[in-house]
Amino acid sequence: MADLLEAITIKRYGGSLSPAQVEATVRAAADGSAPDYQLAALLMAIVWRGLDRDELAAWTRAMLASGESLDLAGLDRPRVDKHSTGGVGDKASIPLGPAVAACGAAVPMISGRGLGHTGGTLDKLEAIPGFSTDVALADFRPLLERTGLVFAGQTPELVPADKRLYALRDVTGTVEAIPLISSSILSKKLAEDLDGLVLDVKFGSGAFMPGIEQGEQLARTMVELAGSLGLRAVAIHTNMSRPLGRAIGHSLEIEESLDCLRGAGPADLRELVSALGGEMLAMVGLADDVTAGCARIERSLDDGSALAALRATVEAQGGDPAIVDGARTLEAAPREEVLCADRPGKVAFGDLRELGRAVVDLGGGRKQLGDAIDSAVGLVLEVEEGQQVEVGAPLVRIRHRAGKGLERALERLRSAVVLQDEVERGPLCRARFAAEATR
Ligand code: URA
Repeated sequence: MADLLEAITIKRYGGSLSPAQVEATVRAAADGSAPDYQLAALLMAIVWRGLDRDELAAWTRAMLASGESLDLAGLDRPRVDKHSTGGVGDKASIPLGPAVAACGAAVPMISGRGLGHTGGTLDKLEAIPGFSTDVALADFRPLLERTGLVFAGQTPELVPADKRLYALRDVTGTVEAIPLISSSILSKKLAEDLDGLVLDVKFGSGAFMPGIEQGEQLARTMVELAGSLGLRAVAIHTNMSRPLGRAIGHSLEIEESLDCLRGAGPADLRELVSALGGEMLAMVGLADDVTAGCARIERSLDDGSALAALRATVEAQGGDPAIVDGARTLEAAPREEVLCADRPGKVAFGDLRELGRAVVDLGGGRKQLGDAIDSAVGLVLEVEEGQQVEVGAPLVRIRHRAGKGLERALERLRSAVVLQDEVERGPLCRARFAAEATR
């Protein structure tokens, strides 16, 4: 394709693509007429040269236009969603969606599956027997009208250009590029027909973009891009140098999310749900300001209304509501090993990705596309960052299936959960970025 060759050459030398060139390129990616090798070359040129503001807006618009979108106009509630760049033990969407729905919003939450060391919201929810995240585009609106909350996977009709480009990026070393990440995430969120979006951009060793500066740049780029395309957005830069909550592994994370929805559970999970939910309510006018929004979210966790919202969604999507009621519990792997402290000291976390990988070793994640996930395995942290422990104190409980992957998992945990004389514990939420919709 001569046009694509021209686009590659322009980008290679740091020039800018016209809106027409961007549209033609993204269209050719979606309809299959562009060959992989030319798209891959262009993606690599974008990794090195970036996209300027106008190119990025045109690229994102073209991605959105490559498929269908939800049409939620006229719904009796404001529509708002959240996206997280993902991390270890990050189950915040599971209590957050119902809490925000219980406070009067419609939450059309389209989520992803586990990627590398991070677990996916869809995989976690599918630990609930019967729960289906396979929701057809036509069923979204009626489901939202009924329950106010849908947890679903990407459908084939939504942003097909991203499906093609993401698959290529995955195998050509071109995932980590701020314009490509921003356009990929926001095109899918724009297709949800939202009134507002909150972005949870993680930093730290368990994050997709570990560096503070890179994460800030991603957060700024996304809120500005969303605003320029007519979507009000706020980004919160949050700490993923320690796991969120205590549980890592699908069923364990569902149980911990249910604890949060019963007004209990780990303080950091509740803090994040409240912070993100407060922003979501304030941005769509369901709270006077973020502080009032946080208070409303916390009330919904304490008074049972958020739990009831999850129950309605689980029931509507074929899941067993007895899990939400606590009348039945999810299967836990039958055997347990405990990693204990071999010296006194304060608990610190090394490379957090090792915790995620340990769960994958145990069978609780995919090594290859299509691998089955064992929802019943995982880790429960018995300690938190900065906590003083003595020799022999339990640090991590490992739920495993007949020793599968246990030795490797233990090795990883020994390197990732360490004891030191001094530990600095940073805040959970370190910065906020906002932009108004300008269109
Ligand atoms: N998640 C996405 O959906 N797209 C990216 O490019 C990165 C993370």
